Amino acid sequence: MTYGVGIIGASRVSDGHARAIAEVQETQLVAIAEPHAQRREAFAGKHACIGYTNHAELLADPHVDIVMIGLPHFLHTEVAVAACAAGKHVFLEKPMAMTVADCDAINVAAEEAGVKLLVAHTEHFLPAGLAARRLIEAGHLGTVVFATDTWYRTFDLAIRPSWFLDRAEGGGGMWYMNGVHMLDRLTWLIGSPITAVRAWVSNPMVGQNSDDTGLAWLDFANGTHATLHHTGYPQEGPERNEVEIIGAQARMKVATRDDRLWLSDGTQYVEQPIAGADSFTLELAGLVHAIETNAAPPVDGRWGRYIVAVALACEESSRTGEVVHIPPHIFADLASW
Ligand SMILES: NC(=O)c1ccc[n+]([C@@H]2O[C@H](COP(=O)([O-])OP(=O)(O)OC[C@H]3O[C@@H](n4cnc5c(N)ncnc54)[C@H](O)[C@@H]3O)[C@@H](O)[C@H]2O)c1
Repeated sequence: MTYGVGIIGASRVSDGHARAIAEVQETQLVAIAEPHAQRREAFAGKHACIGYTNHAELLADPHVDIVMIGLPHFLHTEVAVAACAAGKHVFLEKPMAMTVADCDAINVAAEEAGVKLLVAHTEHFLPAGLAARRLIEAGHLGTVVFATDTWYRTFDLAIRPSWFLDRAEGGGGMWYMNGVHMLDRLTWLIGSPITAVRAWVSNPMVGQNSDDTGLAWLDFANGTHATLHHTGYPQEGPERNEVEIIGAQARMKVATRDDRLWLSDGTQYVEQPIAGADSFTLELAGLVHAIETNAAPPVDGRWGRYIVAVALACEESSRTGEVVHIPPHIFADLASW
Protein backbone atom coordinates (compact mmCIF):
# COMPACT_ATOMS: atom_id res chain seq x y z
CA MET A 1 0.00 0.00 0.00
CA THR A 2 1.09 3.59 -0.64
CA TYR A 3 0.41 6.07 2.17
CA GLY A 4 -0.20 9.72 1.26
CA VAL A 5 1.71 12.03 3.59
CA GLY A 6 0.88 15.62 4.52
CA ILE A 7 3.40 17.83 6.29
CA ILE A 8 2.01 20.45 8.68
CA GLY A 9 4.42 23.35 9.10
CA ALA A 10 7.30 24.18 6.75
CA SER A 11 9.63 23.82 9.72
CA ARG A 12 13.41 23.58 9.80
CA VAL A 13 13.07 19.81 9.46
CA SER A 14 10.40 19.70 6.73
CA ASP A 15 12.91 19.31 3.89
CA GLY A 16 14.42 16.36 5.78
CA HIS A 17 10.95 14.84 6.16
CA ALA A 18 10.24 15.34 2.43
CA ARG A 19 13.50 13.53 1.68
CA ALA A 20 12.47 10.68 3.97
CA ILE A 21 9.05 10.41 2.27
CA ALA A 22 10.83 10.06 -1.08
CA GLU A 23 13.12 7.36 0.39
CA VAL A 24 10.44 5.23 2.08
CA GLN A 25 8.89 3.09 -0.65
CA GLU A 26 5.40 2.99 0.90
CA THR A 27 5.00 6.77 1.24
CA GLN A 28 4.24 9.63 -1.13
CA LEU A 29 4.16 13.35 -0.34
CA VAL A 30 0.69 14.81 -1.01
CA ALA A 31 0.61 18.25 0.61
CA ILE A 32 2.12 20.86 2.89
CA ALA A 33 0.07 23.11 5.23
CA GLU A 34 1.81 26.40 5.99
CA PRO A 35 0.23 29.85 6.59
CA HIS A 36 3.39 31.75 5.57
CA ALA A 37 2.86 32.23 1.79
CA GLN A 38 6.50 32.42 0.73
CA ARG A 39 7.48 29.32 2.73
CA ARG A 40 4.41 27.40 1.55
CA GLU A 41 4.98 28.19 -2.13
CA ALA A 42 8.70 27.50 -1.94
CA PHE A 43 8.12 24.10 -0.32
CA ALA A 44 5.21 23.10 -2.60
CA GLY A 45 7.23 24.15 -5.67
CA LYS A 46 10.39 22.37 -4.61
CA HIS A 47 8.64 19.12 -3.66
CA ALA A 48 5.78 19.19 -6.22
CA CYS A 49 2.87 18.92 -3.77
CA ILE A 50 -0.34 20.78 -2.88
CA GLY A 51 0.07 23.84 -0.62
CA TYR A 52 -2.69 24.39 1.96
CA THR A 53 -2.83 27.57 4.01
CA ASN A 54 -3.82 25.82 7.26
CA HIS A 55 -3.82 22.41 8.88
CA ALA A 56 -7.64 21.98 8.79
CA GLU A 57 -7.62 21.98 4.97
CA LEU A 58 -4.86 19.39 4.92
CA LEU A 59 -6.64 17.19 7.47
CA ALA A 60 -9.76 17.24 5.26
CA ASP A 61 -7.79 15.85 2.28
CA PRO A 62 -8.79 12.16 1.87
CA HIS A 63 -5.49 11.43 0.06
CA VAL A 64 -3.55 12.13 3.27
CA ASP A 65 -3.08 9.02 5.45
CA ILE A 66 -0.13 10.17 7.60
CA VAL A 67 0.57 13.68 8.89
CA MET A 68 3.99 14.90 9.95
CA ILE A 69 3.60 17.76 12.44
CA GLY A 70 6.52 20.20 12.60
CA LEU A 71 4.89 23.11 14.41
CA PRO A 72 5.93 25.39 17.27
CA HIS A 73 5.66 23.34 20.47
CA PHE A 74 2.56 25.16 21.74
CA LEU A 75 0.53 24.02 18.68
CA HIS A 76 1.38 20.30 18.95
CA THR A 77 -1.58 19.27 21.11
CA GLU A 78 -4.36 21.04 19.21
CA VAL A 79 -3.16 19.84 15.81
CA ALA A 80 -2.18 16.29 16.86
CA VAL A 81 -5.59 15.75 18.51
CA ALA A 82 -7.35 17.11 15.38
CA ALA A 83 -5.22 14.83 13.16
CA CYS A 84 -6.16 11.76 15.21
CA ALA A 85 -9.83 12.75 15.10
CA ALA A 86 -9.53 13.01 11.30
CA GLY A 87 -8.26 9.40 11.26
CA LYS A 88 -4.68 10.23 10.23
CA HIS A 89 -1.63 8.43 11.58
CA VAL A 90 0.62 10.98 13.29
CA PHE A 91 4.34 11.68 13.16
CA LEU A 92 4.76 14.41 15.80
CA GLU A 93 7.91 16.43 16.39
CA LYS A 94 9.43 16.56 19.87
CA PRO A 95 8.79 17.73 22.55
CA MET A 96 5.43 15.98 22.41
CA ALA A 97 3.47 18.79 24.12
CA MET A 98 3.66 21.59 26.68
CA THR A 99 2.34 19.57 29.64
CA VAL A 100 1.94 15.93 30.71
CA ALA A 101 -1.86 16.42 30.62
CA ASP A 102 -1.61 17.52 26.98
CA CYS A 103 0.45 14.39 26.21
CA ASP A 104 -2.34 12.34 27.80
CA ALA A 105 -4.91 14.10 25.60
CA ILE A 106 -2.91 13.23 22.46
CA ASN A 107 -2.45 9.62 23.55
CA VAL A 108 -6.17 9.24 24.29
CA ALA A 109 -7.06 10.79 20.90
CA ALA A 110 -4.74 8.34 19.08
CA GLU A 111 -6.08 5.39 21.06
CA GLU A 112 -9.71 6.31 20.46
CA ALA A 113 -9.16 6.87 16.73
CA GLY A 114 -7.13 3.67 16.36
CA VAL A 115 -4.25 5.51 14.66
CA LYS A 116 -0.51 5.15 15.21
CA LEU A 117 1.45 7.96 16.85
CA LEU A 118 5.23 8.35 16.65
CA VAL A 119 7.02 11.10 18.58
CA ALA A 120 10.09 12.15 16.59
CA HIS A 121 12.88 11.75 19.12
CA THR A 122 15.51 11.71 16.39
CA GLU A 123 18.33 10.56 18.69
CA HIS A 124 16.94 6.99 18.58
CA PHE A 125 17.69 6.79 14.86
CA LEU A 126 21.14 8.40 14.45
CA PRO A 127 23.76 5.82 13.38
CA ALA A 128 26.37 6.59 16.07
CA GLY A 129 23.72 6.53 18.81
CA LEU A 130 22.37 3.21 17.56
CA ALA A 131 25.91 1.77 17.57
CA ALA A 132 26.51 3.16 21.08
CA ARG A 133 23.32 1.65 22.44
CA ARG A 134 24.15 -1.76 20.92
CA LEU A 135 27.63 -1.71 22.51
CA ILE A 136 26.26 -0.72 25.93
CA GLU A 137 23.53 -3.37 25.74
CA ALA A 138 26.14 -5.98 24.81
CA GLY A 139 28.03 -5.09 28.00
CA HIS A 140 31.06 -3.60 26.25
CA LEU A 141 31.50 -0.92 28.94
CA GLY A 142 30.70 -3.22 31.86
CA THR A 143 28.51 -1.56 34.49
CA VAL A 144 27.77 2.00 33.40
CA VAL A 145 28.78 4.17 36.38
CA PHE A 146 27.99 7.65 35.04
CA ALA A 147 27.62 9.73 31.88
CA THR A 148 28.07 13.37 30.93
CA ASP A 149 26.15 15.02 28.12
CA THR A 150 27.50 18.32 26.79
CA TRP A 151 25.96 20.49 24.07
CA TYR A 152 27.37 23.97 23.53
CA ARG A 153 26.30 26.00 20.50
CA THR A 154 25.21 29.48 19.49
CA PHE A 155 21.69 30.56 20.54
CA ASP A 156 21.14 31.93 16.99
CA LEU A 157 19.09 34.85 18.32
CA ALA A 158 18.89 36.62 14.93
CA ILE A 159 17.03 33.77 13.23
CA ARG A 160 14.82 32.47 16.05
CA PRO A 161 11.03 32.74 15.54
CA SER A 162 9.15 34.82 18.15
CA TRP A 163 7.63 31.77 19.90
CA PHE A 164 11.15 30.46 20.63
CA LEU A 165 11.88 33.61 22.66
CA ASP A 166 8.83 33.07 24.89
CA ARG A 167 8.90 30.10 27.27
CA ALA A 168 5.53 30.70 28.93
CA GLU A 169 3.29 30.91 25.85
CA GLY A 170 5.38 29.37 23.08
CA GLY A 171 7.36 26.70 24.87
CA GLY A 172 10.50 28.42 23.61
CA GLY A 173 14.09 28.26 24.77
CA MET A 174 17.03 25.91 24.47
CA TRP A 175 15.89 23.57 27.24
CA TYR A 176 12.58 22.56 25.68
CA MET A 177 14.16 22.46 22.19
CA ASN A 178 17.51 20.71 22.86
CA GLY A 179 17.45 19.74 26.54
CA VAL A 180 14.76 17.21 25.60
CA HIS A 181 17.11 15.65 23.02
CA MET A 182 19.79 15.33 25.71
CA LEU A 183 17.45 13.80 28.32
CA ASP A 184 16.08 11.46 25.67
CA ARG A 185 19.47 10.21 24.46
CA LEU A 186 20.86 9.79 27.97
CA THR A 187 17.98 7.68 29.24
CA TRP A 188 17.80 5.71 25.97
CA LEU A 189 21.56 5.03 25.84
CA ILE A 190 21.80 4.13 29.54
CA GLY A 191 18.70 1.98 29.11
CA SER A 192 17.06 2.95 32.35
CA PRO A 193 14.43 5.48 33.48
CA ILE A 194 15.35 8.79 35.10
CA THR A 195 13.89 8.71 38.62
CA ALA A 196 15.01 12.06 40.10
CA VAL A 197 16.47 15.35 38.89
CA ARG A 198 18.14 18.45 40.27
CA ALA A 199 18.56 21.18 37.68
CA TRP A 200 19.23 24.82 36.92
CA VAL A 201 17.61 26.24 33.77
CA SER A 202 18.04 29.96 33.22
CA ASN A 203 18.79 32.79 30.81
CA PRO A 204 22.15 34.32 31.81
CA MET A 205 23.59 34.33 28.28
CA VAL A 206 21.05 36.00 25.99
CA GLY A 207 18.54 37.42 28.51
CA GLN A 208 15.36 36.56 26.60
CA ASN A 209 12.04 35.41 28.14
CA SER A 210 13.18 31.89 27.36
CA ASP A 211 16.17 30.05 28.76
CA ASP A 212 19.56 29.70 27.09
CA THR A 213 21.39 27.53 29.62
CA GLY A 214 20.61 24.35 31.51
CA LEU A 215 22.50 22.09 33.89
CA ALA A 216 21.06 18.92 35.37
CA TRP A 217 21.98 16.05 37.65
CA LEU A 218 19.99 12.91 36.83
CA ASP A 219 19.49 9.70 38.85
CA PHE A 220 18.54 6.52 37.00
CA ALA A 221 16.59 3.50 38.25
CA ASN A 222 19.57 1.20 37.61
CA GLY A 223 21.86 3.23 39.92
CA THR A 224 23.62 5.17 37.14
CA HIS A 225 23.94 8.97 37.33
CA ALA A 226 24.43 11.58 34.63
CA THR A 227 25.11 15.27 34.31
CA LEU A 228 23.83 17.40 31.48
CA HIS A 229 25.40 20.70 30.37
CA HIS A 230 23.74 22.82 27.72
CA THR A 231 24.17 26.41 26.65
CA GLY A 232 23.49 28.72 23.71
CA TYR A 233 26.06 31.50 23.33
CA PRO A 234 24.82 35.01 22.45
CA GLN A 235 27.44 35.06 19.68
CA GLU A 236 29.46 32.43 17.80
CA GLY A 237 31.57 30.18 20.05
CA PRO A 238 33.25 26.80 20.24
CA GLU A 239 30.65 24.10 19.57
CA ARG A 240 30.52 20.75 21.30
CA ASN A 241 27.85 18.08 21.24
CA GLU A 242 28.81 14.74 22.77
CA VAL A 243 27.97 12.18 25.41
CA GLU A 244 30.75 10.48 27.39
CA ILE A 245 29.84 7.25 29.15
CA ILE A 246 32.06 5.86 31.89
CA GLY A 247 31.83 2.13 32.45
CA ALA A 248 33.69 -0.01 34.96
CA GLN A 249 35.36 -1.91 32.09
CA ALA A 250 35.64 0.68 29.30
CA ARG A 251 34.77 4.22 28.32
CA MET A 252 32.89 5.65 25.30
CA LYS A 253 32.39 9.03 23.63
CA VAL A 254 29.62 9.50 21.10
CA ALA A 255 28.87 12.56 18.95
CA THR A 256 25.54 11.48 17.50
CA ARG A 257 25.07 14.56 15.27
CA ASP A 258 28.51 14.07 13.68
CA ASP A 259 28.18 10.28 13.22
CA ARG A 260 31.25 9.71 15.41
CA LEU A 261 31.95 7.20 18.18
CA TRP A 262 35.10 6.47 20.20
CA LEU A 263 35.91 3.58 22.52
CA SER A 264 38.68 3.55 25.10
CA ASP A 265 41.70 1.37 24.38
CA GLY A 266 44.25 1.63 27.21
CA THR A 267 44.89 5.32 27.74
CA GLN A 268 43.52 6.38 24.34
CA TYR A 269 40.13 6.90 22.74
CA VAL A 270 40.02 5.09 19.38
CA GLU A 271 37.44 6.17 16.79
CA GLN A 272 35.18 3.42 15.47
CA PRO A 273 33.79 3.23 11.91
CA ILE A 274 30.11 4.28 11.80
CA ALA A 275 27.65 3.54 9.02
CA GLY A 276 23.87 3.66 8.81
CA ALA A 277 20.78 5.03 7.15
CA ASP A 278 19.39 8.56 7.31
CA SER A 279 17.64 9.10 10.67
CA PHE A 280 14.54 10.80 9.21
CA THR A 281 14.07 7.86 6.84
CA LEU A 282 14.39 5.33 9.67
CA GLU A 283 11.86 7.27 11.77
CA LEU A 284 9.23 7.35 9.02
CA ALA A 285 9.91 3.72 8.05
CA GLY A 286 9.36 2.83 11.72
CA LEU A 287 5.95 4.49 11.74
CA VAL A 288 4.94 2.77 8.47
CA HIS A 289 6.06 -0.60 9.88
CA ALA A 290 3.93 0.03 13.00
CA ILE A 291 0.89 0.83 10.82
CA GLU A 292 1.38 -2.25 8.63
CA THR A 293 1.99 -4.69 11.50
CA ASN A 294 -0.28 -3.04 14.09
CA ALA A 295 2.73 -2.80 16.42
CA ALA A 296 3.78 0.08 18.68
CA PRO A 297 5.86 2.71 16.83
CA PRO A 298 9.58 2.71 17.76
CA VAL A 299 9.08 5.89 19.85
CA ASP A 300 5.48 6.11 21.02
CA GLY A 301 3.35 8.62 22.90
CA ARG A 302 4.13 7.10 26.30
CA TRP A 303 7.83 7.74 25.69
CA GLY A 304 7.09 11.28 24.46
CA ARG A 305 5.10 11.88 27.67
CA TYR A 306 7.94 10.52 29.83
CA ILE A 307 10.49 12.91 28.27
CA VAL A 308 8.09 15.85 28.71
CA ALA A 309 7.61 14.88 32.38
CA VAL A 310 11.39 14.77 32.99
CA ALA A 311 12.05 18.06 31.13
CA LEU A 312 9.34 19.81 33.16
CA ALA A 313 10.63 18.24 36.39
CA CYS A 314 14.03 19.83 35.66
CA GLU A 315 12.37 23.24 35.24
CA GLU A 316 10.46 22.71 38.50
CA SER A 317 13.71 21.80 40.27
CA SER A 318 15.29 24.96 38.90
CA ARG A 319 12.44 27.07 40.30
CA THR A 320 12.34 25.41 43.73
CA GLY A 321 15.98 24.43 44.27
CA GLU A 322 14.75 20.97 45.27
CA VAL A 323 15.31 17.47 43.93
CA VAL A 324 12.21 16.47 41.95
CA HIS A 325 11.25 12.79 41.79
CA ILE A 326 9.60 11.40 38.66
CA PRO A 327 6.41 9.50 39.60
CA PRO A 328 6.98 5.80 38.75
CA HIS A 329 3.69 5.59 36.80
CA ILE A 330 5.29 7.92 34.20
CA PHE A 331 7.87 5.31 33.19
CA ALA A 332 6.40 2.03 34.50
CA ASP A 333 5.04 0.75 31.18
CA LEU A 334 7.67 2.00 28.72
CA ALA A 335 8.94 -0.58 26.27
CA SER A 336 12.40 0.85 25.63
CA TRP A 337 14.58 -0.57 28.41
N1 LIG B 1 13.72 16.29 15.56
C1 LIG B 1 14.57 17.30 15.41
O1 LIG B 1 15.78 17.11 15.39
C2 LIG B 1 14.03 18.68 15.28
C3 LIG B 1 14.82 19.70 14.71
C4 LIG B 1 14.25 20.98 14.58
C5 LIG B 1 12.95 21.23 15.00
N2 LIG B 1 12.24 20.21 15.57
C6 LIG B 1 10.86 20.45 16.06
O2 LIG B 1 10.04 20.92 15.01
C7 LIG B 1 9.08 21.84 15.53
C8 LIG B 1 9.17 23.15 14.73
O3 LIG B 1 10.40 23.78 15.05
P1 LIG B 1 11.04 24.91 14.10
O4 LIG B 1 12.20 25.46 14.84
O5 LIG B 1 11.26 24.37 12.73
O6 LIG B 1 9.84 25.98 14.10
P2 LIG B 1 9.52 27.11 13.04
O7 LIG B 1 8.73 28.13 13.77
O8 LIG B 1 10.78 27.54 12.35
O9 LIG B 1 8.61 26.38 11.95
C9 LIG B 1 7.27 26.07 12.20
C10 LIG B 1 6.44 26.38 10.96
O10 LIG B 1 5.06 26.10 11.23
C11 LIG B 1 4.26 27.11 10.61
N3 LIG B 1 2.93 27.14 11.22
C12 LIG B 1 2.51 27.82 12.30
N4 LIG B 1 1.20 27.54 12.57
C13 LIG B 1 0.78 26.66 11.62
C14 LIG B 1 -0.45 25.96 11.38
N5 LIG B 1 -1.53 26.10 12.17
N6 LIG B 1 -0.50 25.11 10.33
C15 LIG B 1 0.56 24.92 9.55
N7 LIG B 1 1.77 25.54 9.74
C16 LIG B 1 1.87 26.40 10.76
C17 LIG B 1 5.08 28.38 10.81
O11 LIG B 1 4.67 29.40 9.90
C18 LIG B 1 6.49 27.86 10.54
O12 LIG B 1 6.83 27.94 9.16
C19 LIG B 1 9.40 22.03 17.02
O13 LIG B 1 8.53 21.28 17.82
C20 LIG B 1 10.83 21.53 17.15
O14 LIG B 1 11.13 20.98 18.42
C21 LIG B 1 12.74 18.96 15.69
